[in-house]
Amino acid sequence: MNYQQEYAAAKNDPQAFWKEKAAALEWFAPPQEILSLNEYGIHHWFADGEMNTAYMALDYHVDNGRAEQAALIYDSPVTGKKRSYSYRQLRDEVALCAGMLKGLGVVKGDRVIVYMPMIPQAVIAMLACARLGAVHSVVFGGFAAPELAIRIDDATPRVILSASCGIEVNRCVEYKPLLDRAIELATHTPDYSVVYQRQRKQADMSQPRDIDWKQAMESARPAGCTPVMGSDPLYILYTSGTTGKPKGVVRENGGHAVAMKYSMKAIYDINPGEVFWAASDVGWVVGHSYIVYAPLLHGCTTILYEGKPVMTPDAGAFWRVIEEYRVKALFTAPTAFRAIRKEDPDAELAGKYDLSSLQTLFSAGERLDPSTFEWLGEHFKVPVIDHWWQTETGWAIVANMVGIEPMPLKAGSATVPCPGYDVQILDEQGEQASADQQGNIVIKLPLPPGCLTTIWGDVARYKAGYLEAYPGFYLSGDGGYVDRDGYLFIMGRVDDVINVAGHRLSTGEMEEIIGKHEAVAECAVIGRDDALKGQMPVGFVVLKNGFKGNDEEIGKALIQLMREEIGAVASFKELYIVARLPKTRSGKLLRRTMRQIFNGEEYTVPSTIDDPGSLNEITTLIE
Ligand code: COA
Ligand code: AMP
Repeated sequence: MNYQQEYAAAKNDPQAFWKEKAAALEWFAPPQEILSLNEYGIHHWFADGEMNTAYMALDYHVDNGRAEQAALIYDSPVTGKKRSYSYRQLRDEVALCAGMLKGLGVVKGDRVIVYMPMIPQAVIAMLACARLGAVHSVVFGGFAAPELAIRIDDATPRVILSASCGIEVNRCVEYKPLLDRAIELATHTPDYSVVYQRQRKQADMSQPRDIDWKQAMESARPAGCTPVMGSDPLYILYTSGTTGKPKGVVRENGGHAVAMKYSMKAIYDINPGEVFWAASDVGWVVGHSYIVYAPLLHGCTTILYEGKPVMTPDAGAFWRVIEEYRVKALFTAPTAFRAIRKEDPDAELAGKYDLSSLQTLFSAGERLDPSTFEWLGEHFKVPVIDHWWQTETGWAIVANMVGIEPMPLKAGSATVPCPGYDVQILDEQGEQASADQQGNIVIKLPLPPGCLTTIWGDVARYKAGYLEAYPGFYLSGDGGYVDRDGYLFIMGRVDDVINVAGHRLSTGEMEEIIGKHEAVAECAVIGRDDALKGQMPVGFVVLKNGFKGNDEEIGKALIQLMREEIGAVASFKELYIVARLPKTRSGKLLRRTMRQIFNGEEYTVPSTIDDPGSLNEITTLIE
């Protein structure tokens, strides 16, 4: 089938299409209900299928000829360690870890938070939860204690799995004090924290809540796979919205497994037995889908890389990994390519390695800017594929499906909708935009398998945030247009979410944090374009009348506050104290105009502006 036929097949008879795709997996009892509505009137897939995701991803392969094949390769330039786990070894470790969790009282449906660096135990922890039918929620290691606390209170985990530290190039990030602080801040208290002690820094443990991972594993007995229904949740992954409270995206087992398995061949052109590398972090959706689940469900070898594209030790690190493990496809965010390009503009380091195994480079997480796209095309003689997706969908909405039929590339476009996604552009009135006309990118319901079915504990928020703006459609939050050839161009978020080094952050949340400081009368945070990280947050603060303090000191304190509240990952380094903020007469902040000024874009002063002089102050800041 070519792309058009495949897309049409999914559109014309979605149930037949996805039923066939589901048959590629080993179910305990295959689903009879392919697409149905849940109790809240939301579509979901394979609800009555009986299965276990960890069984499909590990045991099935052990029993079907892949027992000795490498499942997971851990490569850690920051510690100098490398280790390969065969499917059998990984399955056995996961079964033991599941047994350990079971021993701590974890049962099907319980939540388990995983707050870990990029070590094999993080992957083992996720799969162990899946094996028990428990729901994991991985929290990115770059988040500070208050962010972890918010997630603890929302997910109410029975157990938290963590490690003593993470290593950022050569800086040691101690996780345990952050974890302890988060538990202190949270209202909910987990029964246990299980901590994997790393050589670099051992954590102080306190009884009876803290448990040593290695000791607990030694006394654990392997647990079997607990059957779950296709509609049972596999995980919750928090992502930034427009407010201070992150959204817990819920992913169900059945649709997820089917979408993951399908995407490996159709989108990435990967066959079972081949080596696939997503250079991301297990704390992000790319890590969930393409470091852990999809490659394993497809019987591939996946790579867990604990390092950076540069500095560990140099800009040749990615190419070294590709040569060493014969990687067929690399998937990362444009910011990583930009970091490499900055250090090695002529790709001389790449020339030192044998990259003959590499067939395709995939990019997502942020827009692949034409200049980076062209640089990659010039130096690496393989297709460079941009594809667009979100935490909410779990897999690509729009891509160039090289495993079905490669389409001609267009710089700046993520190409065409994947089968199952009916992508449309609507204007503010809900009318369909014509070709090349920009608008809100929406997806006609039902969403295909793998996409979120709710926000954890808050179905009303899911409906209000995604389904109510345009009835019958899912609102993506991105703006863009479709050209005459049906190619989609993403122009960026239409809300207050920004994208920093491929990390999704909320300027609304940053404003809430700054706004809580006693010296602050009001504030605004916008995203400014950045040559390396895509966007960087910039803060503007009006101090309270009569506040006696030094502007520079207050600025530094607010920057430090953001690091303590959100974490280093916020990359919040630029802040201005101003006399007033530009607003409309009704008091609405003119963030868009401020952003345009800061990014050197053309702008028109809105006729509703309250005080035109307020914009002059912003303009002078960049001169
Ligand atoms: N644990 C603790 N701290 C972390 C962390 C983690 N897992 N990940 C990042 N941080 C810290 C960094 O050390 C840095 O701290 P600093 O301000 O003290 O320097 C801060 O958070 C910002 O991190 P980052 O934005 O990643 O910047 P960087 O300068 O460390 O690295 C790149 C820049 C481009 C090399 C890096 O962002 C990168 O490799 N990106 C790849 C893209 C990616 O993985 N995207 C995920 C979605 S696909
Ligand atoms: P996240 O949920 O963290 O994966 O972030 C999703 C958001 O990242 C999307 O809503 C987009 O704004 C942006 N994004 C992801 N992939 C792309 C892409 N290929 N092109 C442009 N923007 C992207």
